[in-house]
Amino acid sequence: MSQKIFIKTFGCQMNEYDSNRIIDSVKKIGFNKTENLDEATCFLLNTCHIRDKAKEKVYHEIGRVKKSFRYKKKPFVIITGCVAQAENEEMIKREPYIDLVIGPQAYHKLNDKIEEFLDNQKKISETEFEADIKFDYLSKIKNSSGKISSFLTIQEGCDKFCNFCVVPFTRGPEYSRPFNEIINEAKMLVSNGAKEITLLGQNVNAYEYENYRLSNLIYEIEKIPEILRIRYMTSHPNDMTNDLIEIYKTSEKLMPLIHLPVQSGSDKVLNLMNRKHIVKDYLRIHEQLKKINPSIKFSSDFIVAYPGEDEKDHQDTLELIKNIKFINSYSFIFSPRPGTTASNLELIDRKTSLERLEVVQNELFKNQIEMNKSLENEEINVLVENKSNKIPKLFGRSEHMTSVIFDGNDEDIGKIIKVRIKDSNRNTLFGERVEKSRLRVA
Ligand code: SAM
Ligand code: SF4
Ligand code: F3S
Repeated sequence: MSQKIFIKTFGCQMNEYDSNRIIDSVKKIGFNKTENLDEATCFLLNTCHIRDKAKEKVYHEIGRVKKSFRYKKKPFVIITGCVAQAENEEMIKREPYIDLVIGPQAYHKLNDKIEEFLDNQKKISETEFEADIKFDYLSKIKNSSGKISSFLTIQEGCDKFCNFCVVPFTRGPEYSRPFNEIINEAKMLVSNGAKEITLLGQNVNAYEYENYRLSNLIYEIEKIPEILRIRYMTSHPNDMTNDLIEIYKTSEKLMPLIHLPVQSGSDKVLNLMNRKHIVKDYLRIHEQLKKINPSIKFSSDFIVAYPGEDEKDHQDTLELIKNIKFINSYSFIFSPRPGTTASNLELIDRKTSLERLEVVQNELFKNQIEMNKSLENEEINVLVENKSNKIPKLFGRSEHMTSVIFDGNDEDIGKIIKVRIKDSNRNTLFGERVEKSRLRVA
């Protein structure tokens, strides 16, 4: 059987990683990836349920596929990801154009389910939580990701149950992959050309396998000579243990940007959210890390207008943003998620919510602009990832994850290059290769 599969991915980095692994898996049964929807015989939508009208977005997307295949043979339609887990067979009932629904911890069954459907054309929904069997299955299939900066999922699921969040329901309980399996996959990524690895998990710093913690993994991956940079995300403040903090003293490859979501700067709101940490805990972690390396910066996630948040709480969040000087952060208005504790709470009116979001974002943008401006005329290290379709022509990232576009040589791709920053805007730094400019002067 030979099929062409088109994958569309919504959501977080873990979904991106999963989509790549799905491609690796279905290749075994003759499904090859296409970037062109028109020639697809199979359409797979990897969904996210974190906020807003996630479900509606999925049906809307299916509507668009239906439209483009109006005069052609219907593609085989698969829904994966967090909406698939949450909605299950309801999706097939509501939209008969969907053939197969499969949740994130059942991807090891995907090939069998596809073949089953193709044999008897009976719709299937599969949403078991079997993270251990899934990863065991996937570890036996080559990870073919060939990106300079590659993702590697080391942990999935969450036991923390913040009141607003669907993740514990859609990804299931916390599960950490075996240590050696991860190291082998890191080596596989390196053999495909990876120079930077971002270790992923919904609670990546809760990683625990036998006696190994995230710090042990970082230490081991650092030994792989081809790896130039290591990152990890997303962390929870309560799992920023001393061993992880201490590794910043010795690690040469761990990047100085820590994505550590705080959600709110008010203890009252953090308590209402069931976050299980207070602002002081966060400040202590920040202080400890800054002491080790003053160039460390923090990025974060904020939920604005959480039910019960008053003007004082909002001001507390602004205070924290000013204090920590977060960069590269995300902020969203609270979105009630079906099935979560916060789903039925009384919402803050839309106008106030939007106003607070704007104020929070402006404060975050201010930090970002200041940080980028402060780099103008400075030389920074950039890991070059690919060619940019803009001029100057190379795209890479700073140690703090900011996009850098600069004039360099194609041979720079995959290397860390010194770039002198000439200009910046909120999201991007623009510069030129240092050696090149020196040559010009000479
Ligand atoms: N595990 C991470 C942590 O504890 O911070 C977060 C993972 S979650 C996939 C990513 C972000 O989505 C959260 O940090 C939160 O800011 C946001 N989020 C989750 N549920 C939300 C909701 N109901 N409304 C708005 N934003 C939400
Ligand atoms: Fe969601 Fe993160 Fe809270 Fe877990 S710790 S419930 S993933 S926000
Ligand atoms: Fe979305 Fe699921 Fe990731 S809800 S953010 S795809 S864990």
